[in-house]
Amino acid sequence: MKTLIVNATVMLPDGPSETSVVIDGSQIADIDPGKNVKVDETVYATGLHLIPGVIDDQVHFREPGMTHKEDLVTGSRACAKGGVTTFLDMPNNDPSTTTQKLLEEKLTLAAEKSFVNYGFYIGATDDNIQDLKKAKRTPGIKIFMGSSTGDLLVEKAESLERIFAETTLPITAHCEDEETIRANALRIGRTSNVCKHSLIRDDEAAITATRRAIKLALQYEHRFHVLHVTTEAEATLLADYRHVLTSEVCPQHLLLNTEDYMRLGTLGQVNPSLKSAKDNEGLWNALLEGNIQIIASDHAPHTWSDKCKRYPESPSGMPVVDNLLPLMLNEVNNGRCSLQQVVQWMCEGPARVWDIVDKGKIEVGYDADLVLVDMNKKQLVESANQETKCKWSAWHGTELTGWPVRTWVVGHEVYRHGEFDESHRGVEVIFDHDRGGFWAED
Ligand code: DOR
Repeated sequence: MKTLIVNATVMLPDGPSETSVVIDGSQIADIDPGKNVKVDETVYATGLHLIPGVIDDQVHFREPGMTHKEDLVTGSRACAKGGVTTFLDMPNNDPSTTTQKLLEEKLTLAAEKSFVNYGFYIGATDDNIQDLKKAKRTPGIKIFMGSSTGDLLVEKAESLERIFAETTLPITAHCEDEETIRANALRIGRTSNVCKHSLIRDDEAAITATRRAIKLALQYEHRFHVLHVTTEAEATLLADYRHVLTSEVCPQHLLLNTEDYMRLGTLGQVNPSLKSAKDNEGLWNALLEGNIQIIASDHAPHTWSDKCKRYPESPSGMPVVDNLLPLMLNEVNNGRCSLQQVVQWMCEGPARVWDIVDKGKIEVGYDADLVLVDMNKKQLVESANQETKCKWSAWHGTELTGWPVRTWVVGHEVYRHGEFDESHRGVEVIFDHDRGGFWAED
């Protein structure tokens, strides 16, 4: 099948260009092909932008074990509609993904179910160092330095040290210091006030863990990526190491802050916690200056009834993947950043961080993971219209400008103006870790 996408503003690696793109089978076969190209289908895209599919390197799609919250079908449908053509899924399942066998079981499930491309991290524990050393077909090792949903937590200093010292895969971490969290919780005492969540999981918890992980990464010269940075202080610290470490930020930490607890209650309860409006600004500046390199969703769905429990019985996490790209396109329209920067943060950047082969760019020979976006489309976020199984959004009732309208995954159009083609499946992402990460030459 050959498809020609005509006259879009195509976001090429060097910048936008009014041109046409040919998809042949699973690949981008030509850019600016001239007049006489023979194709099976022509898509007229004047007035629309064509971007590489978004690569979201942090989702929790809950399979196996918590499929009443999400599964690979609903999670990947949300991706297709939201312009996310590749996801990397976290290991805090039930059972947690801590062995090659469990990781491969998830890959098999995804091959059966996922409408978009997929990869899975392996989770670190205090005693699975041998599994971590042998792991393959994975972006890397995920360490929970602070406890969150599930039972993955690396508690002992010597375990943490061994993981950095003895493994070779890239490491990524949830940086909140468990000791600080416990001490804060003890000092504050039992409370049902969700605003206290940001005092229990405070700036100090975040910065202490981030500092500790950076120290280990430098000591052992280990590839390291900091997940969901939340504080200006961490961003300042990361600026000093931007040539050796990478990091990411999520829309909830860029666009929401502790003032939103009044409106959102426990819906705004996430780990790491929401921080101040000043931190929002610090994180934006870090992104714009290149001190934080990528944006991810940390899509962490919980059912409405779970989230309606009183704090602290209410679980932490919110669904984001349906709206990840629209939230950022809206910021482009607000003048906060350019579309080219969004493409760097959400497509090219994650492909570079995780050594993903042939994805993240519109270039001949790359996989045809493509999204047409309408930068002028205005639409309300409505909980009832979310594809995520938990059917709610912290942005319910917000009008966003800039939405994906058509999505191709390895050459197959999986989403088109509200309709899904569920006949195709995404592919397993290939990681070439010898490439060397974010700074490697192409
Ligand atoms: O808020 C969060 N929820 N943060 C995490 O790190 C885990 C996630 C979840 O899986 O629910």
